[in-house]
Amino acid sequence: MKACEALSSAQTGATMQVLLVLALLVACRAAARNLSFPQGFMFGAGTAAYQVEGAWNTSGKGESIWDRLTHARLSSDPSAETADVAADSYHRYREDVLAAKNLGLDFYRFSISWPRILPKGDLSFVNPDGINYYNNLINELKRNNIEPLVTMYHWDLPQHLQDLGGLASDIIIDYFEDYARLLFTHFGDRVKWWTTFNEPLSFVTGYSSAWFAPGVDAPGVGGYLVAHNILKAHARVYHLYRQHFRGEQKGKVSITLNLNYPQPKTSSPADHDATERYLQFNLGWFAHPIYSSEGDYPAIMKERIANNSRAEGLPRSRLPEFGEHWVKYIRGTHDFYGMNIYSSYYVSAPNTSETSSGISFANDMGPVLLEQDPSWPAGSISNFRYAPFGLRKMLKWVSDNYHGVPVLVTENGWVDRGEMNDSMRIRYLVNHYAALLDAVHLDHVTVLGHSVWSLIDTFEWGSYENKYGLYRVDYKDPRRARQARASAEVLAAITRTRRLPEQYLDQE
Ligand code: BGC
Repeated sequence: MKACEALSSAQTGATMQVLLVLALLVACRAAARNLSFPQGFMFGAGTAAYQVEGAWNTSGKGESIWDRLTHARLSSDPSAETADVAADSYHRYREDVLAAKNLGLDFYRFSISWPRILPKGDLSFVNPDGINYYNNLINELKRNNIEPLVTMYHWDLPQHLQDLGGLASDIIIDYFEDYARLLFTHFGDRVKWWTTFNEPLSFVTGYSSAWFAPGVDAPGVGGYLVAHNILKAHARVYHLYRQHFRGEQKGKVSITLNLNYPQPKTSSPADHDATERYLQFNLGWFAHPIYSSEGDYPAIMKERIANNSRAEGLPRSRLPEFGEHWVKYIRGTHDFYGMNIYSSYYVSAPNTSETSSGISFANDMGPVLLEQDPSWPAGSISNFRYAPFGLRKMLKWVSDNYHGVPVLVTENGWVDRGEMNDSMRIRYLVNHYAALLDAVHLDHVTVLGHSVWSLIDTFEWGSYENKYGLYRVDYKDPRRARQARASAEVLAAITRTRRLPEQYLDQE
């Protein structure tokens, strides 16, 4: 710091002196930034059942909607890929736990496969091998001092329930509650962190796109029904836990919501309004009913969808209504906020009055233009660009809008084609942690922890081409060997020191 003070009076001129001054400036900036993680901060990494477990039809597991979709693709396209074996974590979970241990993680985020526990989705048959598998995984984690963080639903609905109407039918509320009760009963003595649903904004696309299971073609209708039911199901499970399990088990229950940070492109009122509309339609849709003090869907959604529905000659809004009882029942059903975030966007109001025709979520939201700065380094998926400022801003937005709710970053990670020397993943992680620490130390957001996506390479909902893993999985090897990438070493050093290494920080 002495050198920093001396800086102001430094006489520069010669090239060497200029370089020295620049180097000192960088060091002073780093010294000014608080790079230490707060007491109790939890480091984690995650996966999801369908993406890693394999064993899709063994040991009594039932078919899921993702099994159905990937197998249908395979029957018409022999080059299509499935997660029938994936990383084979069903047989190799000990290696996953060892990877988490080598990283020095405090928790491992994984999901439970509903059809592995309840092959038909309902309580008609509880599969003992399914229960055993998760008991073994949880016990192995606990033996290694790693907390399990369990997602109840990461998209693999039992096909049998889909045949009865799936998430678009309100039967799902009872079935989900039955399933959750079973999970609390069998695993709640050791699992203290639960999330009900992962990324509803993503899985509602299964009702407007053939790409996503169950591939139902109902744009502008199906997604709203699904969201309505899962918000009720989430609240049921939260209340179930509070009333019957929390006293003894003392855990926490919440939900995971996703959005890349949308920043207004300019300070114009039009861009600001477009951004707010985008936020409320994509995040407020799920967050407002649970986290706001009023509850219910955001007013702007109710109004726009009701207006559009009227103009379409429909007898009622395509956005279902909760009614007073459900608004109250859903409001406040959280113990923290699970945040998934990968990148950022600039949002503007397009300079045109043109609107596309047809009933859709996009038309209900109205015109917004999303752009990314081409200078942001791109991952192997086009819209996954490196823009760490968004994490700090998203954390602040959630904290400001939802009464300082404690946030757990449940997914954040870098996608590439699988380099072992993954220097960009290192840069991504270190600078996202730094943005998170700025939110903590400068914006006073309460952040409980951070979970890297992903612990090991995963099946990316259609292919194995894009990789997020701190550990590589060798899919050509029948043993599916796991191998640490360079980023794993850096993360292990961070969890050991609980401080960020300055050498990977971007110079602003
Ligand atoms: C999902 C993961 C997925 C990841 C990367 C998230 O939307 O929860 O299952 O693998 O993003 O695409």
